[in-house]
Amino acid sequence: MAAVSAQAAVACSSPPTVDASPSSGLPEAVAQQRAKYVAEYGPDYVDHVIVPHLMNRVTQGERPVLPMIDVALTKENALPRDLWGLLSATWQPNPEEGVTVFLQGLEKRGPDNRRKRIYMSAVTPDLYRAVYQPKVVAFWNELFAPDNTNKPLMRVYLDTFWDLYWDLHLGVKGSDIPAQVREIGTSFMAVLAYRDVTQRNVHDNYMTVRKNLDFLKSWIDDRLGDISSGVTPNPKATFAWYWLTNGEGSEYFNHKDVVFECFHNFVAFSQWGNSLFNVMGTLARDAGDPQAKDWFAKTMSGSPDTGTPFPPLERFVMELFRVISPNGGSISALAETSPPPFDRYTYMVTPHPTTSRDAVQWVNPDAFDPERYLPTPTSAQVDQAKIQQMGLAGCPFDPVDWPVRDGRPAALRNSAFGTVFGVADGQPMPVCDYAGFAPFGFGYRRCPGEQLTTMAFEDLLRKVWTDRLDFVKVRGDGAEQLPVGPTTVIADDMGFVRRR
Ligand code: HEM
Repeated sequence: MAAVSAQAAVACSSPPTVDASPSSGLPEAVAQQRAKYVAEYGPDYVDHVIVPHLMNRVTQGERPVLPMIDVALTKENALPRDLWGLLSATWQPNPEEGVTVFLQGLEKRGPDNRRKRIYMSAVTPDLYRAVYQPKVVAFWNELFAPDNTNKPLMRVYLDTFWDLYWDLHLGVKGSDIPAQVREIGTSFMAVLAYRDVTQRNVHDNYMTVRKNLDFLKSWIDDRLGDISSGVTPNPKATFAWYWLTNGEGSEYFNHKDVVFECFHNFVAFSQWGNSLFNVMGTLARDAGDPQAKDWFAKTMSGSPDTGTPFPPLERFVMELFRVISPNGGSISALAETSPPPFDRYTYMVTPHPTTSRDAVQWVNPDAFDPERYLPTPTSAQVDQAKIQQMGLAGCPFDPVDWPVRDGRPAALRNSAFGTVFGVADGQPMPVCDYAGFAPFGFGYRRCPGEQLTTMAFEDLLRKVWTDRLDFVKVRGDGAEQLPVGPTTVIADDMGFVRRR
């Protein structure tokens, strides 16, 4: 806009010319950056990634008092604009090619957040115990095998993680995962971790993702064929089987959506890496958090798995996630009150770390205290009566059951705050529905992978306890820098040893 106005001002004596270049209309500082990078990376990357990156505005939102995010804070395309090229050949949202629940507004998800329920039908706690736990436990056993003692562990983790990822999603591992599929995952994670799209390294990884995207989608599609036709051994031990079966015939989770979710989950699962690294740091033998380490010993030497709704080990892992807070907040797309003068993209982050440590929520927000979850409400308890008891007039989200179609006696239910949770054999499997426990987000868009994640980390800690492992620093200077999670690049200097 500024460039056009300046042109008009000097155009008294000659006919006005229109600047039709891609930088026309951009604020001058952005146009300068565009000019700076275009020679190095080419116009395609610069106009679809660097310029949108500079035109993103991510604002800090307020700490919610209730675990119920307003539907006006939409998830519709709530992905920083410069990252769309990782998901779509056209560099922009392209729903015909598949949709992920993560980037969809509630109003488009079908009745009662249907798409979310179908998604979550694949990752409920009953399924973790029945079919996923053996895969996760085998992964931890391999990672913490004696051969890896005293080694920088995150390198080993990143080299082996894709076997677990694809085994969980599609029942494929080892040499059945093509090199290109491993490569795209690694590059995707690198872009999220380094995040500065002006860096050469990020550009190269970004373009590697794009180069392999079509191959990845058709490979996933073929594997879905294997699941449907019975070629895949034990298909009911894959997320995709539940998505195919429960989404079947539904406009809210079609075949292309299953393909899309299978690789969009790169974003979700990338957080296991930084979570693992931070768990090791929190429980480290010579550093770490003394309160957390005391609680770990106390929890494991008692009855870690006895009690409801959250047994002691589950409470301990919840507390780890509250203090670690693997991501900074829940991101929403915002509409401006009047049309902006040029394309820019505004988002708001509802913060997790500060909400989890808000003195409005807890009397002891900075203590490591797994018992804080003894009195907090669960998603199974927050109903109309609870809403009225809180002094509110009406139930914001009517609790509804959506029975799964996959043959299990199971349903997906929601709390009055919109939080979706599973019910199997008539037994609710709720989460802590309290704003002070923020790491997995809030309300209708809270993380459906929360319990899969906490149960996987419970298994990690069982292994650590049973095998008498200590987390230790294994290397000082010269540790390899590794992209282990969103906006997280670490020095790979943690490992484990076995106590005698
Ligand atoms: C350390 C691990 C994880 C953390 C900290 C985490 C955190 C979160 C948070 C905070 C949200 C809400 C985002 C928002 O409202 O803007 C979310 C949403 C989501 N997560 Fe996770 N997540 C993790 C792992 C997973 C896993 C393993 C899966 C899949 C199995 C998963 C699938 C999803 C999906 C599909 C959504 C979108 C839900 C919706 O919009 O309704 N996440 N996650």
